[in-house]
Amino acid sequence: MSSAPLIEIDDLKVHFDTDEGVVKAVDGVSFEVSEGEMLGIVGESGSGKSVANMTILGLTRASNAAITGRIEFEGRDLLTLDEEGLQEIRGNGISMIFQDPLSALHPFFKIGNQLVEAIQIHQGLDDAAARARAIELLDLVGIPDSERRMGEYPHEFSGGMRQRVMIAMALTNDPKLLIADEPTTALDVTTQAQILRLIERLRQELGMAVIMITHDLGVIAEVADRVMVMYAGEVVEAGTLDQIFYDPQHPYTWGLLGSLTRVDQPRLARLAQIAGQPPSLINPPSGCHFRNRCPHEYAKCTEHPDLVQRAEGAALDRCWLPPEKKKTVRVVSSGEIGLEAPREPAA
Ligand SMILES: Nc1ncnc2c1ncn2[C@@H]1O[C@H](COP(=O)(O)OP(=O)(O)O)[C@@H](O)[C@H]1O
Ligand SMILES: [Mg+2]
Repeated sequence: MSSAPLIEIDDLKVHFDTDEGVVKAVDGVSFEVSEGEMLGIVGESGSGKSVANMTILGLTRASNAAITGRIEFEGRDLLTLDEEGLQEIRGNGISMIFQDPLSALHPFFKIGNQLVEAIQIHQGLDDAAARARAIELLDLVGIPDSERRMGEYPHEFSGGMRQRVMIAMALTNDPKLLIADEPTTALDVTTQAQILRLIERLRQELGMAVIMITHDLGVIAEVADRVMVMYAGEVVEAGTLDQIFYDPQHPYTWGLLGSLTRVDQPRLARLAQIAGQPPSLINPPSGCHFRNRCPHEYAKCTEHPDLVQRAEGAALDRCWLPPEKKKTVRVVSSGEIGLEAPREPAA
């Protein structure tokens, strides 16, 4: 694995002007992904994961969207690229797959024809060569009897098989970066594990980088190199997989770890939940955005914490609690970490 960043996102902000006010969906997010690396992005629904990643491909551009910062991919700033340039990147460089593969497949056309068309758009092969390539891709993503299944329609595939087709579709342009936005969320646990293993195998075999977006830390526990935790449009913790799982610094991460589902283990008896709702992205709490849900809030938390390394050898985090205090208040038992019982809100 090379360490040169393939993509660099710097201080990305995506704000939507709405009737209710300005939604700060992404508010100063920075990260990079190296060639062949897998970055896991985790956070509850509404934390800005999809908006941040769709912005990479120019998919959030709209008249009510104010987008600032820098997204550099192979020496080009994607934020200032025109639509033609973006098409080129989407066709040759970065692919994205989503939670619901049905929405991205045309219901009235056979899988084979849709694949062949995508291949011809990207690679200009003749019919026979494109068809051969389509079958090869279906084989690669583990669809049995691929030649026959070329002639079937999307609804004839199970959810897991459909997601495999979507992944095959995403591979038609030989991406250097695959952005997988909750690719397993709609699937049962067994199928979920199979799709994860598939993406991991493809990453190894094809050497592509992957951004794996999920609301469930358990999904990336086995496969990510690094993890970025998002909350209310910001990154609240970022580090290696080991740092996040064995020495997490942010109380929100503790909560996520307490509520994760393990694909490889029976459900834990103690499943801590993070109490309360994610904040409004129009008026998040001043200071630490998590403080109204955090059992450890104190005076300092009304100031907005930067994302910096606060403990030696640890991940970067946005929590004011002194590192020694963190070690004592986070609940660690048999390798699992959860939130303490949240205190009652002050009357
Ligand atoms: N086009 C839009 N206009 C206004 N608000 C939006 C738009 N797209 C997304 N949002 C809001 O941005 C926030 C982040 O959304 P999203 O990135 O989809 O969250 P996640 O993927 O983490 O679940 C949500 O509050 C969502 O409602
Ligand atoms: Mg999303």
